[in-house]
Parts: sequence; C-alpha cells; structure tokens
Amino acid sequence: MKILFVCLGNICRSPAAEGIFSKKAHEAGLTVTADSAGTSAWHAGEKADRRMRQTAKNRGYELTSISRPVVSSDFDVFDYLIAMDDKNYDDLRQKAETTAQMNKVLRMRDFFSDKRYDHVPDPYYGGTQGFEMVIDLLEDASDNLIKFIQKQ
Ligand code: 4NP
Repeated sequence: MKILFVCLGNICRSPAAEGIFSKKAHEAGLTVTADSAGTSAWHAGEKADRRMRQTAKNRGYELTSISRPVVSSDFDVFDYLIAMDDKNYDDLRQKAETTAQMNKVLRMRDFFSDKRYDHVPDPYYGGTQGFEMVIDLLEDASDNLIKFIQKQ
C-alpha cells in the first residue's frame, strides 16, 4: 500500500501527515509507504517549514521530507492520494487523467472523527496554535486511515 499526502506547498500540512501517519502505521505493524507532495512547486527542494518541524518534534515526530510537486506518475505509483483541503482535492482531480486515477483521490477529512472540521487548515500565515491544530487533526485522521487500510 502506497499513500501520497498532498497540500499546496508541501512544507506544512502534507509533510506532517507523512511523518505522523508513517510513525503510527509502523507502530501498528502496517507495511505501507508514505510520501508527500504539493499541488504547487513554490517550495520545491525545501525542507518542511521550521515551525511545522518544531511543533511536530515536540509531539514526537521527525519530519524529513523535501518539498516536491505532484507529478502525473504519482497517480499510477500510489494507491491513494489524500488531499488536505478541498482546493487540493479539486486540483488533484483535475490532474488525474483517467477515472481510475480520479478515484484514488481522497480527502483527509474523510478520516476525521470530529465532523465539525471539514479540512486541515493551512497554518502558513498564522500562529503557533495553527500548527498544533494541524497535528491534532492529522493524528486523529491517521488513526482512522490505518483502520481503513487494515480493513482492505
Ligand atoms: P502547506 O502550507 O500547503 O500546508 O505546505 C503552505 C505553504 C506555503 C504557502 C501556502 C501554504 N505559500 O503560499 O507559499
């Protein structure tokens, strides 16, 4: 099973999703490959945002990803491409070339326990609280995503 987490810049939300999901999946004994990418190439080649890395580290996750844009082969290589918000979701579905590829695109909110939230909010222009909130949402969604994969 191969999962690609996708946000806009691939420096905040999707690197955190990759790191959190990977750690939890490993602890659950799942054999999965996780990666992350951006719908933009604005930050290609960069490490995850320092604030995101620090907040994740404080919560027990090392974020090691280097930003890269989504490429068309991702739709073949990965079993699921999971979007952090609705714009990422729409952008991904537009990049898909076949119905089968389009059907691989899911939203992280599909796996939220608390349905009061409907996306992973972009923390880039906000304060520390936004980064903590990203981790809270991703921890919960990762737990449910692992259950989803275990059922397949
Ligand atoms: P991300 O956050 O999509 O969670 O990586 C952002 C990073 C950079 C920008 C926007 C969102 N930006 O406008 O450069």
